Amino acid sequence: MEAKELDRRKFLKLGSTGAAVLISFPFLNACKDSSAENNNDISADFEPDLDIDLTAKEVEIPILEGNPTRVWKFEGKLNKGDSAALQEDQNNYLGPILLVRKGQKVRIRFKNQLPEESIVHWHGMHVPEKFDGHPKDVINNGETYVYEFEIMNRAGTYWFHPHPHGRTGPQVYNGLAGMLLVTDEEEEKLDLPKGEFDVPVIIQDRKFDENNQLVYLDRGRMDQMMGFLGNRIFINGKPDKELPLKSGCTYRLRFLNASNSRFYKLGWEDGSPLMVIGIDGSLLERPRSMPYIMLGVAKRADIWLDLKNIPVGTRFTLKSLPFSAGMMNMGMMGGMASDLPLGSEYSVLNINVDEQGSNTNELPDKLAVFNKINPSEAINRDNPRTFKFFMQRMEWTIDGRTWETTGVTEEETVKLNTTEIWNLVNTGGGMMSDGGMMKGKGMMGGGMMQMPHPIHIHQVQFNILERDPSEMDEDVWNSVKDGLIDDGWQDTVLLMPGMKIKIIMRFKNFKGLFLYHCHNLEHEDMGMMRNYKIE
Ligand code: C2O
Ligand code: CU
Ligand code: CU
Repeated sequence: MEAKELDRRKFLKLGSTGAAVLISFPFLNACKDSSAENNNDISADFEPDLDIDLTAKEVEIPILEGNPTRVWKFEGKLNKGDSAALQEDQNNYLGPILLVRKGQKVRIRFKNQLPEESIVHWHGMHVPEKFDGHPKDVINNGETYVYEFEIMNRAGTYWFHPHPHGRTGPQVYNGLAGMLLVTDEEEEKLDLPKGEFDVPVIIQDRKFDENNQLVYLDRGRMDQMMGFLGNRIFINGKPDKELPLKSGCTYRLRFLNASNSRFYKLGWEDGSPLMVIGIDGSLLERPRSMPYIMLGVAKRADIWLDLKNIPVGTRFTLKSLPFSAGMMNMGMMGGMASDLPLGSEYSVLNINVDEQGSNTNELPDKLAVFNKINPSEAINRDNPRTFKFFMQRMEWTIDGRTWETTGVTEEETVKLNTTEIWNLVNTGGGMMSDGGMMKGKGMMGGGMMQMPHPIHIHQVQFNILERDPSEMDEDVWNSVKDGLIDDGWQDTVLLMPGMKIKIIMRFKNFKGLFLYHCHNLEHEDMGMMRNYKIE
């Protein structure tokens, strides 16, 4: 590895304060690792339905009044396929929205024009190891990585973002993220709102300096430990949070929390319920009315919005409602002061019903049919694999382990064509540096630090079997419990302090090294990420 790169990583790791995010280092080609199995050629025998160039590069974009902002952007270009498959706004830091159908074959040529290594991951997608965007597959500036896979997932709301180890946080924060919408035959039969009535709502938080440039990790080590929080909410890459919609219409809103570490308790300002129809990798079996939804980092939730009888001129707001995140001893970390603290109340999205329209879509009673996995199918039903998420020696770990590029243990190895139950535990009370578990509940447990961890598993969609809040602080549990969705197929769960969640999944089709990690991107970059192996 090139020395400058090493230095910068060390710098980021040590987290000196004021680390600016968009420092570009001159790129030197000398560090190309010839042993990497980079996939930089198309395969002649792969016949894609869609062929797309996806280029990551630095551009300047007008975001705020005044100076444009330097961002990193995925730019898409359709080489082959239906023109509706790629929707892009050049004046937005966010990447394109890709629309694909189950069974389609997709080729994506990722071109890295960033001043550092990167690789793209298709979050939630069931793809072979070499197309999963593993950190070991990073490419350098000027190189291309070719993805060629068949869409095997169900209809759902997926997304894509970079996944280089140690740099996912800054790369996503600088703008590198896009949505990937999958449809299938079952969904098409439902006649859900399409086109302008199928609306992405990508939620992020950002922070700017006086020159309109993005600020990241301005509190150094502290931001890495806690996760970086911006001080203003962005919707679909825009700061004004406005969404103009039409009276007389019904909508499918696809929420994606693409923030680095912030999560949301989304609820309408007037207290009316949200009608949830989808989550991560599937529609729900039936629409479900909820008072609010907890949208953890990286999670998606599709909701139904009926404006049939809402007159033109109406404005209403989606808020993040107050909740207790159960973080302990944070005050001691040096003034938790964010202008927009996690768990405070603030507006996320303003819906402006600005003109008359019409569509005929009605909310179906039944959405998707699927057989949830039966626990009796699991080979480890009586003794689920347990993973504990905690801090040790001032580092976030999974079972005391941190990132190793290709390292994987026996405890992290599963067999192809088996079903397993995993027990994910956010150890209440924290873990002291000597490794001794501090017993006790919630805030007073005496541990070093506890935080919510949004846990994500690559390659699979799982069912949630049970949540055990018995070790949780009651205030925390009570402030989030009615917003948790346990139905459908999911790939990420928000593991609140003290929470235990049992999930069940099948390992199918592809062997190899895949990731499981905390999707708080600062935790992930710090090493709260591990391989699991399907063999
Ligand atoms: Cu959204 Cu490992 O990723
Ligand atoms: Cu993923
Ligand atoms: Cu975490």
